[in-house]
Amino acid sequence: MLKGKKILLGITGSIAAYKSAELVRSLVKLEAEVRVVLTPSALSFVTPLTLATLSKNPVHHAYVEDEDTGVWTNHVELGKWADIFLIAPLSANTLSKLVTGECDNLLLASYLSADCPVMVAPAMDLDMADHWTTNENLEKLRNKGVSVLPFGEGELASGLQGKGRLLEVDEITAAVTDHFIPSGYWKGKQVVVTAGPTYEAIDPVRFIGNHSSGKMGYAIASALLQRGAKVALISGPSHELPPAGVRLKKVVSAQDMFDAINEAYPTSDVVIMSAAVADCRPKQMADRKLKKGKDDLQHIELTPTVDILATLGATKQVQRLIGFALETDDELANAKKKLENKKLDMLVLNSLRDSGAGFGTDTNKVSFVFPDGVKEGVLKSKKDVANDILDEFEAKYA
Ligand code: CTP
Repeated sequence: MLKGKKILLGITGSIAAYKSAELVRSLVKLEAEVRVVLTPSALSFVTPLTLATLSKNPVHHAYVEDEDTGVWTNHVELGKWADIFLIAPLSANTLSKLVTGECDNLLLASYLSADCPVMVAPAMDLDMADHWTTNENLEKLRNKGVSVLPFGEGELASGLQGKGRLLEVDEITAAVTDHFIPSGYWKGKQVVVTAGPTYEAIDPVRFIGNHSSGKMGYAIASALLQRGAKVALISGPSHELPPAGVRLKKVVSAQDMFDAINEAYPTSDVVIMSAAVADCRPKQMADRKLKKGKDDLQHIELTPTVDILATLGATKQVQRLIGFALETDDELANAKKKLENKKLDMLVLNSLRDSGAGFGTDTNKVSFVFPDGVKEGVLKSKKDVANDILDEFEAKYA
């Protein structure tokens, strides 16, 4: 998600600097190009070798790198190279110097000469974080267009509890990623996506389930993240790997999925119900494995599972609902009925008649059914179908 983005990471003298190695890794994993500049006091907490190895670039901390040869670091070039200058952790000392324009180290000189956006993640102890000078200095940076991330809260290195921690690495990474995502309908939207099958237990080892792989739902979650949405992915059993940045909740049964959605539903903007929820479950789950010859294996009494989407439709306020339907006959008529009965804003219709579409494949062919019309899609990769779903929905409701 950060492919080709040039990030200059500034590290200052705070105990939280030990997390910067993880931060470099996290940014590089998203394919960012990372260069590191440290203040002299940051060197007490992290080594250039660690950061150079992880960033795959030499790191910088002195104006003059070699007194004998006169090799020096061009702070102007560092500032001009970067697409964003991220200072994390930002200590109280460097914060104060950023505000006053002091320039007694390479990081500060890079700041003064950078013409790219600047983002800072402060970290300091409880009382320092609360001090009026800190608050005033952060406010001054904000007023000058610097993006100031909030303090994290929790246990501090001093043993005190409260505000002052460096924000978690994945939160800083998310903020950087978000910075590069252009504004659009999905940016900042809270979206719940469900994926995969549900398993309804017969006994401790057997279940009723279906062939859903979860690929479609995971592809939608990934497409949403790339558009800056906040995604809660509620997944039944699936071997897919969750995309970085998603809030993943693994569930097993339809009832588990319903409970998880209910928690997220009140604060969500859109629910995308791509899970293949089992329609029925055994009325009673045996508490031990059923045995041949001993137990009745010919009859399992079934009862319908909760219809999650219909329940969401019946109670929806401002939320928008996207449902899926897999039909084998009377596709469109059935799909329209589902759209209406479940009070959906859009229904993505799969037909098992199309080869390359449906469960387990990497491709899909869908139609988009709206209350006022239908649009047919073509066979595409599930990744492209995921983007089409978001585009079609946006075109209708943005
Ligand atoms: N769905 C749900 N809860 C269920 C069953 C389905 O929320 N217990 C959702 C699915 O995730 C999908 C939509 O409802 O988004 C339609 O699912 P589908 O299985 O096609 O339709 P059903 O309503 O179950 O009807 P039928 O199986 O009879 O076609």
